[in-house]
Amino acid sequence: NWTMDDFIDLEVAKIRKQVGDGKVILGLSGGVDSSVTATLLHKAIGNQLTAIFVDHGLLRKDEAKQVMAALNRDLGVNIIKVDAKKRFLDKLKGVSEPEQKRKIIGKEFIEVFNEEAKKLNGVKFLAQGTLYTDVIESGTKTAQTIKSHHNVGGLPKDLGFELVEPLRKLFKDEVRELGEKLGIPHELVWRQPFPGPGLGIRVIGEITEEKLEIVRETDAILREEIKKAGLEEEVWQYFTVLPGIRSVGVMGDGRTYDYTIGIRAVSSIDGMTADFSKLPWEVLQKVSTRMVDEVDHVNRVVYDITSKPPATIEWE
Ligand code: XMP
Repeated sequence: NWTMDDFIDLEVAKIRKQVGDGKVILGLSGGVDSSVTATLLHKAIGNQLTAIFVDHGLLRKDEAKQVMAALNRDLGVNIIKVDAKKRFLDKLKGVSEPEQKRKIIGKEFIEVFNEEAKKLNGVKFLAQGTLYTDVIESGTKTAQTIKSHHNVGGLPKDLGFELVEPLRKLFKDEVRELGEKLGIPHELVWRQPFPGPGLGIRVIGEITEEKLEIVRETDAILREEIKKAGLEEEVWQYFTVLPGIRSVGVMGDGRTYDYTIGIRAVSSIDGMTADFSKLPWEVLQKVSTRMVDEVDHVNRVVYDITSKPPATIEWE
C-alpha cells in the first residue's frame, strides 16, 4: 500500500542505480506519459537526461510553446526542440491514403529522432513512458490492426539503447497523480489524448499548409469554447477535421465556395469504444459562428454524430 511519495523515492533510486552516470534520451510528445517520464528522470539524474521534442508541424496551436515553457523553462528539463516541419510536409506531399500518411509520419519521426540521438554522442539509454496497460496489451493490440499507430513514446526497440521505463507499473490515473506531484501544470497533466500523427490525420486526404492552418485555428476555437463552457473534463476528446470538400455558401450578398469543418466530440473510457457527445446547442452554435467568422475559407460546420463502433474516433 504505497503512496505516490514512496513511489517517487523508490523510482528515483532505481533510475540512478540503472543508469549510473550514463546519458539518457527520451522522445517528448507533450502528452502526459512522456512529460511525466521526463520530469521524473530529470528529478533523478538532472542533465544526464536530454529530451528530444520533434516538431513535425502537425501539432495544435501553441502546443510546442506550452510544452517547452512548462518542462524546460519552469521545470528545468533539458530539451532539444527539432523543427522538422518542412521535412515532414515534403515527405507527405501528394499523399492522400490514410495508412500511407501514418506510415510516413511514423518512419520520419524515428529518423529525425535517431539523427538527433546520434549527434549527442555516447547515449546508452532510452527512456519511455510505457504504462502498465501498454505492457499487458502488447500482443493483443486490436486497435493497431485497424490503424497503424504512431506513438512518440513507442520508439522501436532495435534503436540500440537500453530502455528505462519508470511508469511500467502505473495506470493512467496514477501517472496523472504522479505528474501533479512532480509539479507539471494541470492542463498538461489532464490533456486530452492526441494521436502521434497529430493534425496530419485530421486533414483528410492530402495535407497542405493552408489546410493544416484551418484545422489548427478551428481546433483552437473549439477548445476555447469547451473550456469556457466548463466541459473540459466531461468530454473525453474533442477536435475538428477538414474533410476537404467545398460547398456553396452566402456571405453578405456574395456567393462563397469554401471548406466544411467537421466537429468530433466523444465520451470514452479507453478509446476502444466511444459515444458521440451531446454537446449543448449553444456551445455548437457559438463555435460554428466563430469558425466561419474567424477562420478564412470556412463556410460550413457539421457535427459528427457517429459512435465507435461503427466509426472510429479519428476520421483517418
Ligand atoms: P481511433 O481513431 O482508432 O482512435 O478510434 C482511438 C484513440 O487513439 C488515438 N489515436 C492514436 N494515438 N497514435 C496515438 O498515440 C496514433 O497513431 C493514433 N491514432 C489514433 C485517437 O486520438 C483516439 O484517442
